[in-house]
Order: sequence, then C-alpha cells, then structure tokens
Amino acid sequence: MKVDVVLGLQWGDEGKGKIVDVLTPKYDVVARFQGGPNAGHSLEFGGNKYVLNTIPSGIFHEHCINIIGNGVVVDPVQLKKEIEKAETTGVDIRKNLYISEKAHVILPTHRLVDAASEAYKGVHKVGSTLRGISPTYQDKIGRSGLRIGDLISPNFKSKYDTAVSNHKKLLDSLNYEYNLADHEPAFYEAVEYLKQFKIVNTEYYVNHLISQGKKVLAEGAQGTLLDIDFGSYPFVTSSNTITGGACSGLGIAPQKINKVYGIFKAYCTRVGNGPFPTEQENETGELLRKLGHEFGATTGRPRRTGWLDLPTLKYAIMLNGVTDLICTKSDVLSGFETVEVCDSYDIGGTVTTELPFNMMDERIKPLYKSFAGWTGNLSAIKQYAELPETFKTYMDYVEQQIQVPVSMISVGPDREETIIK
Ligand code: GDP
Ligand code: IMO
Ligand code: MG
Repeated sequence: MKVDVVLGLQWGDEGKGKIVDVLTPKYDVVARFQGGPNAGHSLEFGGNKYVLNTIPSGIFHEHCINIIGNGVVVDPVQLKKEIEKAETTGVDIRKNLYISEKAHVILPTHRLVDAASEAYKGVHKVGSTLRGISPTYQDKIGRSGLRIGDLISPNFKSKYDTAVSNHKKLLDSLNYEYNLADHEPAFYEAVEYLKQFKIVNTEYYVNHLISQGKKVLAEGAQGTLLDIDFGSYPFVTSSNTITGGACSGLGIAPQKINKVYGIFKAYCTRVGNGPFPTEQENETGELLRKLGHEFGATTGRPRRTGWLDLPTLKYAIMLNGVTDLICTKSDVLSGFETVEVCDSYDIGGTVTTELPFNMMDERIKPLYKSFAGWTGNLSAIKQYAELPETFKTYMDYVEQQIQVPVSMISVGPDREETIIK
C-alpha cells in the first residue's frame, strides 16, 4: 500500500520520462503531481521518440492508469494536441487517463501574462517556457483560479470572464499588445474536447487504488533546483518539485511514500536563466551540448551545460529523502579524457559543501576532483560489471560522497539502454 516517487535532482531534463517508462511495467498507476506543459519528458522505444508535456509517462503501457493530479496546471489546448498525437500510436487515452477536477486551468491570458511579465523583466527575465505556468499558479495561490471541474460547471463562462478581465488589466498595465481573438476559439474547442475524458476526484481515486493494493508511481516534473521554495529563487518554476509535492499534488499522506527515485545526469544542464556554479561556457560545454543533444524538449532552446555538482546533489537528496539514485547520460561523457566533479565550493575563502542563500554570489568557486574518463559505446552494455573501470571509479566516488546507492544507470535514450545495478 505504498507510493514510489520519481523526480529530478538537478534543473530538470534529467531523463525522468525515460525512467518512468522503464519502471512502469512494475506499477499499476503513474501520476503527475505538479508542473504543467513546461515539462518535456522524452521516451524512446521501437525506434520512435515521444515527448510528453502533461500526460504522465506511463501512457504507452496498456495496463497502466495515468493520473493528472490536482497539483498540475493543465492547458486544454496543449493537452488536446498531446492526446491527439499520442493516440496516433494506438494507445487508448480515453480508457487510461484520469484528470483531477481540482487541477488548475491555464487560460490563453495566462500565457499572454507570462510573455508580458517576462518581456517587462527584460534582462532579468527568468527564461520561462512561456507556457503560462507562473500566472496560473499565482491565480491558484491568489484564490482566483479556474479548475478543471469548473469547465463542466454552468458558471464556467462567468468565472472565465472574471479571470480574463483581471488579466486584461494586467496586460494593459504592462503595455503588452495582444489579440485574444487569436487564442480563444482554440481554447473553447479544447474545453469541449476535454469533456469526453475522465474528470474525477483523483484524491479519492488514487487512495482507493492504494487501498486495493495497486502500485502507484508519482512522476515529478522539473527538478529540485527549480523548486519554488528550495530552488535557485527567483530563477525557479512555480511549484514544489520535491517529494513533498507528491503529497500535496495528489492527496497522498506522507507515510504512504515508500521509495524515492532521484535522477541525476552524469553532468549538469539548465535551460533558462539563473545560477549554475559548474557551468562550462567553453569548448567542453559546447561538446557536452553537442554529444548530449542538449536542446530543450519543450522549447528547443540550447541547454546550458557543466560538470556534476555534488553540493547541489546532496542538498536535493536531503530534501527529497532519496532512497535510490538513478544516473543518466553517462554514455555522453564517453571520449572525454578527464571528467570533473565539483565536490565543494570556495565562497570568498571559505570551503563549504552547503549551498549559500544567494546562489548568484559571484564569489562561488567550484572546487573539482578530476577522474580519468572512459571510452567506447556505453549504450551497448547490458551489465554493470561490463562498464569501464574508470566509469565505476567515478560512480563509486559519487556513491561514497552521497551515501545513497545508485540502483540504475541509463546509457542511452531508449528503454532498452538501461542497466540495473
Ligand atoms: P526529462 O524532462 O527529465 O524527462 O528529460 P528530457 O526528456 O527533457 O531530456 C532528457 C533527454 O536525454 C531526452 O532527449 C532523452 O531521450 C535523453 N536521454 C535520457 N536518458 C539518456 C541516457 O542515458 N543517455 C542518453 N544519451 N540520452 C538520454
Ligand atoms: P522537465 O519536466 C528544464 C525552467 C525554465 C525556466 C524556469 C521557469 O522537462 O524537466 P516556467 O515555464 O516553469 O515558469 O519556467 O524553469 N523549466 C524547466 N527546465 N526542464 C523542465 O521540465 C522545466 N520546466 C521549467 O526554463 O528557467
Ligand atoms: Mg524535459
């Protein structure tokens, strides 16, 4: 009667979609608990690649119930597109997808307000995905949001009009030019379309499934360093991306959480603005981006790249209560003569492994430990024992520093390219 959680330990894009897809055969239910279509979760199997934004990553397994929880923000237009695309693969979305009536709705004006606020901030912008995430969560917290359940209520139009009139005032105050008529027809069409899906009270449903002995996997979006409370504020997203978010975003009591799978890339990436102590704005960074195909799954933006950062990883493990570590993309590092790992920071002469209040502090100097690199095609390897010795030395060091076992190593984007340790 327990729920396991999968989440990212860095700045997102750690490979959550792939790992959830790999783990799904062991679960009856996969449930998203926060974020929205700012997420881009990639899955690869049978020679095809799929990117999911709002639909949980268990959708391609026929037996699996997929839940969009109350903590998620849903854009009807985006979700309609996503469902239509997924359906071309033959999956029965009507049967297996459940949407929380309490999930908040991203309106076209939320997307416009997101764009207007970012434009207003100029060079200080967060670098948001412009999917309307922050304005929608602001309305949720401000107690003026619309929820999925409102779409099927007779008061929908009046609630919508009130929200839009508030957003218009905001857009006007920011001198933002827009034409709502370009967006509303698709929104209304998508609202009608979504009514054919299972819009339910997911907190009762998921707890009922748990009490029936069904196995639930909660799927996080973004990463711990983008968490609204603990991330590199203000360069964060607007939800709790940590394990605690699974409780509030699904209605699951804390004692029901069992395993927490924390995913980290063998190096680091970040899209958008904000601090990134181990960033490599040089040839090494370019190479990481090229070999790792580090371009955003949602926006296509080039991802910033850098070395593995243990102080941030330790922090993320502490906040999430990670029980199992999963390392992805170590195959990308194949061919690097040396691989660097930041094990502490020098901040103005003081060496520390803890994150300072101000991650933008220009005095943060990462201190590195160098490891001999590895060569060869790791993607073809199926057993841990067959991995290069230099790779194992590196992984042993990470495990020893972090004191949590690495249970899985992903060596390629495909489902099959996964090593259980
Ligand atoms: P997510 O947001 O955490 O689901 O991650 P994304 O899908 O945004 O980004 C991860 C990218 O790396 C995707 O293109 C995946 O297909 C790919 N990927 C995942 N795991 C591996 C791996 O072990 N090796 C390689 N080379 N690519 C991977
Ligand atoms: P997945 O689930 C990487 C980043 C944006 C921006 C900041 C705020 O695929 O790992 P937002 O649109 O949420 O207001 O943007 O957060 N961001 C992500 N970066 N992966 C993601 O999701 C992200 N979702 C948001 O780039 O810096
Ligand atoms: Mg992603």
